[in-house]
Amino acid sequence: MLSKHGVFERNAWLLSIGTLIVVSIGGIVQIAPLFYLKSTIEKVEGMRPYSPLELAGRDIYIREGCYLCHSQMIRSLRDEVERYGPYSLAAESMYDHPFQWGSKRTGPDLARVGGKYSDDWHVAHMVNPRSVVPESIMPGYPWLAQRKLDASDVAERLKAQVAVGVPYTEEMIANAAADLAAQTDPDSDGAEDVAARYPKAVVSDFDGDASEVTELDAMIAYLQMLGTLVDFTKYDAAGPNLR
Ligand code: HEC
Repeated sequence: MLSKHGVFERNAWLLSIGTLIVVSIGGIVQIAPLFYLKSTIEKVEGMRPYSPLELAGRDIYIREGCYLCHSQMIRSLRDEVERYGPYSLAAESMYDHPFQWGSKRTGPDLARVGGKYSDDWHVAHMVNPRSVVPESIMPGYPWLAQRKLDASDVAERLKAQVAVGVPYTEEMIANAAADLAAQTDPDSDGAEDVAARYPKAVVSDFDGDASEVTELDAMIAYLQMLGTLVDFTKYDAAGPNLR
């Protein structure tokens, strides 16, 4: 057997062709199934598209470049799981266009920050991080509290998400502007509709100023939902997580 291998070792062309054949087999085995699988993302219960207000918050998160210091991807390593919570699943990013995994952690990972702090904490932290975390090096974003959220194109933004595969329904698009306002007003008639259309959506006057919907309202709505949709107690029982 080994003596036959000598033929390859003495003939560079034959060796190249032989290598190509072997590598091609490996490539086909890995790549071909991807054309037949409908999705490589394992389904999990609880994932839904962002509510209009959360989506607006996400757009501001991207505009302000928060991803330059914050990742949203908890790796399946014990130290990460113990610090941040259950590791991120692919399905948790399936409605994220573009996804916010990030690769730089000047600040902590935010994938499970939802519910970790009160709305008031976020208001103080966004305006001036040092007011709640004295040693913080995060910049303040005080203008978010002052700027009224421009929601004139919210339905269009939902439609743009549909174009890349996010399953917003006609009803969600038609009610986008109303849902956006209602999510900041727990006493409004629309508050229940938001919760029905977007399960687990937090309805709150996020920034503490009920007179108008600000960019800070949208940002906090987004932060408060991060990592809260999937019920990990179920998955813990099945054992795939490290906790
Ligand atoms: C220059 C880097 C930097 C940028 C840009 C930045 N942050 Fe931070 N962030 C930090 C650091 C450092 C901390 C940890 C100290 C603290 O809590 O302030 C932090 C903490 C946080 C926390 C608390 C996380 C936790 O689990 O305690 C939140 C929420 C947060 N940032 C949101 C944001 C948002 C939203 C933006 C964009 C508007 C942003 N950050 C931009 C560096 C940054």
